[in-house]
Amino acid sequence: MALTRESRAEAGELSIAFRVNGHTVTVSSSPLQRLSRLLREELGLTGTKVGCDAGDCGACTVLLDGDPVCACLVATGQVEGCEVTTVEGLAGRVCSGEAVGARLQQAFLAHGAAQCGACTPGMLVAATALLERTPAPRENEVMDAIGGVLCRCTGYRKIIAAILDAGVKDAGAKNIVPASGAAVSPGAGAAVGKRLVRLDGKGKVDGSEIFGADEVPANAMVVRAIRSPYHRARFHFGDLAAFVRDHPGIEAVLTAKDVPGTNCYGVIGRFADQPVFAEEEARYRGEAIAAVVGEVAVVEALEVSEFPVRWKELTPLKDLDAALAKGARLIHENRHGNVLVRGRVVRGDVDKALDAADVVVEGEYDTGFVEHAYIEPEAGFARRVGDQIEIQACTQSPYMDRSDIATILGIAPERVRIIPTAVGGGFGSKLDLSVQPFLAVAAWHLGKPVHMVYSRTESIVSTTKRHPAHMRLRGGCTQDGKLVALDFSADFNTGAYSSWGPTVAARVPVHASGPYYVPHYRAVTRAVHTNLVPAGAFRGFGVPQTAIAQEQLYDELADRVGMDRLEFRILNALDDQTLTVTGQVLGAGVGIRACLEALRPRWGAARREAAEFNLHAAGALRRGVGVAGMWYGCGNTSLPNPSTVRIGLKRDGRIALHQGAVDIGQGSNTIVAQICADALGAPIERFDLLSGDTAITPDCGKTSASRQTLVTGKAAQMAGEKLRSAILKLADACDCASIHFEDSGVTVHDGDKSHVVALGNLPLDGYGYVITSEATFDPPTSPLDENGQGVPYAVFGFGAHMAEIEVDTELGTVRVLKVTAAHDVGRAINPTLIEGQIEGGVAQGLGMALMEEFFPGKGENLHDYLIPSAGDIPPVESILIEDPSPIGPFGAKGIGEQAVIPTAPAILNALHDAIGIRLRRIPATPDRVRAAILEAAMKKGEARG
Ligand code: FES
Ligand code: FES
Repeated sequence: MALTRESRAEAGELSIAFRVNGHTVTVSSSPLQRLSRLLREELGLTGTKVGCDAGDCGACTVLLDGDPVCACLVATGQVEGCEVTTVEGLAGRVCSGEAVGARLQQAFLAHGAAQCGACTPGMLVAATALLERTPAPRENEVMDAIGGVLCRCTGYRKIIAAILDAGVKDAGAKNIVPASGAAVSPGAGAAVGKRLVRLDGKGKVDGSEIFGADEVPANAMVVRAIRSPYHRARFHFGDLAAFVRDHPGIEAVLTAKDVPGTNCYGVIGRFADQPVFAEEEARYRGEAIAAVVGEVAVVEALEVSEFPVRWKELTPLKDLDAALAKGARLIHENRHGNVLVRGRVVRGDVDKALDAADVVVEGEYDTGFVEHAYIEPEAGFARRVGDQIEIQACTQSPYMDRSDIATILGIAPERVRIIPTAVGGGFGSKLDLSVQPFLAVAAWHLGKPVHMVYSRTESIVSTTKRHPAHMRLRGGCTQDGKLVALDFSADFNTGAYSSWGPTVAARVPVHASGPYYVPHYRAVTRAVHTNLVPAGAFRGFGVPQTAIAQEQLYDELADRVGMDRLEFRILNALDDQTLTVTGQVLGAGVGIRACLEALRPRWGAARREAAEFNLHAAGALRRGVGVAGMWYGCGNTSLPNPSTVRIGLKRDGRIALHQGAVDIGQGSNTIVAQICADALGAPIERFDLLSGDTAITPDCGKTSASRQTLVTGKAAQMAGEKLRSAILKLADACDCASIHFEDSGVTVHDGDKSHVVALGNLPLDGYGYVITSEATFDPPTSPLDENGQGVPYAVFGFGAHMAEIEVDTELGTVRVLKVTAAHDVGRAINPTLIEGQIEGGVAQGLGMALMEEFFPGKGENLHDYLIPSAGDIPPVESILIEDPSPIGPFGAKGIGEQAVIPTAPAILNALHDAIGIRLRRIPATPDRVRAAILEAAMKKGEARG
């Protein structure tokens, strides 16, 4: 409803004039309105992102009279007469004759400093302020300048490099960014292996990219969920009709009764158990029981205490012990002992082998919930279009969303259209539904567009987390360091609903050996329900937790037999012909030994340097070096996960690439296009990308499990080859002929013959193209038998990280000095994007090792839940090993999840190397490290005494 001048004045609005990006604007606004909101909602400057509304994330950073400020903390009344610059205005900003903002934007693109792009506007603004003050900053000045802007994707190193590169250089030094910012085309057939600027990068640096909260249909109402404040509670609604009646502007209250189809969804069909709205009992704090729909101002102003519901708090099961206790109450009636599912891989005779082993070591490890903390909270809108529903939202899995929304609404999937926005980070959590069911039910009932944006707290309390794990393991080796057996068991706290618990329970037993030959092996897992927030997918599906236990155990074994810890791993590394723990022989592309060997030079030097440092250290500082290996199967575990890619040749000689892989920042839009371009033999700039809309792109599955480069990339390669064959057939040319794409047609050169195919004269097919080519790829796997034997994955990625750290033994703090990360990626399709994945993985692994743990009910914001900031991240040296997969496109393997797995165990092994303490409860926060130091000192004293 548009307000008149009088009604605005009554509402406390004032006329406020200021300049934005060089233009004077006058707005009628409450002087208390957040500047971020005014910029986004009234001025349409949605490049300024909102990640927390609390000054914690820095995504909303703008320049206020040249100084960087968090726009969410600035009241509009404060900017009267001031100059505000947002990301949209950076390109026009000139300082001392230098186009600083534009240069930074180009540098961010060239360095791959924008991944998902949610932090990018804030980063660019903060960097502009720095370069305008300090044209040639040093690295520590850059880190200080961006210290208040969080990035969850990049690991900051490429951002720092971009800012340094955009700064004024010493005489003789050169920027890698050409002044014009012009991209250099690699030419036809030469895109794979090139450091191409991401094809979807421009919108990320100029603020035009549309994320979940950036588009709202005219006259859309807002949806707000009412959530349980208790871990477990029964509830009774009061008079909901009277509540709506008494609140003008509120259109409806929706509850379970209003779900037209099935009030149940879940990412794995046979385990689906999560209601859109809880019925009678809420099973976790943050679970939705109802939604209020209405005018924005009214719904936002609503005090939750006004909502008519009576709660009766009940005793929750809050941890694994309580949930697994004999006679414990069942959270789901049909899940005996609160166990959602079990996983198992057994090979050989582990008990006998451990009895016979020269050395046996055992241990127990615990890890906590980890929050995804992407910078973009969940958001989107929905509208009913005839008998269809359209949902535009941030998601990693449009086709899975389509299927679940169809079930919830009780309609055919074809009547649901999912339009993914840009995704401001996902890391697994945006595989699950969040805003979508509420939007769908509201839009379906009301026949009006609705939108919903989660607050940061709402995002943290209600969306999935990394599974807490309790792991027990026993491993043995021979005196000469050969692994003989590993006995591993783990319970994962999967929270109130199943989400990806079954996947974690199934994937972990396959991976718990690490990338080593272990002839006798038993790994058993359970996913266990509690009354806590559901745990789901988070980069690695349980494997990062597992590696923390297993890689530390292998260090202990190496120590016990007196072997160098890196050489112990090299000795036991899998190779092309050794059997994995599921009895699989990969045959080719097993690059773990090469990764470990690539660390050797730095390993030796770093160990010497640390020893030297410790020898002369007089104070509290001690240094250590640690290493850990990793393997990770790409794609679903022993389940089909096909991708289909369609490409169409247009009459103007351009090529439409329909690929439904959602790019959540990892770069699939660019990588898939590079692969397709080379398979077809066309220059990449000939491609028009059509990404991830269920109405226009075939199903490329979910963006998870490090599968898009392998699976969708392979489908793109096959589709490209098919289109090439079709063109050659049209020209009656042989396979060896080359194709040149021009605006009017294609010319086929076959030896000394040339054939011009005039595309304008050719008929169009059902898709509207001259030729359409479609291909589907599903990685060849086999089901696992009752002992977990079989072929769970067609392709594995391998890697090894080495961490150099410094511990302050008085404070218990750990500083990571350097990480060297070697990864076998099969073929580096785009090395810049791969390095970005590695650096981002290292940052998340560092957070997991040293600082990140979410406690449901506490610290539900980015102020208390700490993720690494720029100052926490050390230099990362990435070493790319290319041991090609015979299956992957051009030999490529996945990298997304692989990158996070070895960092935490490498840091924890370094911690032990530095101070001789092995923490059993992760993360190694300063209080835990300090307590462990004191306990060790006490024990030492007792032993002496
Ligand atoms: S949105 Fe302003 S600091 Fe996070
Ligand atoms: S690129 Fe920084 S948060 Fe995604």
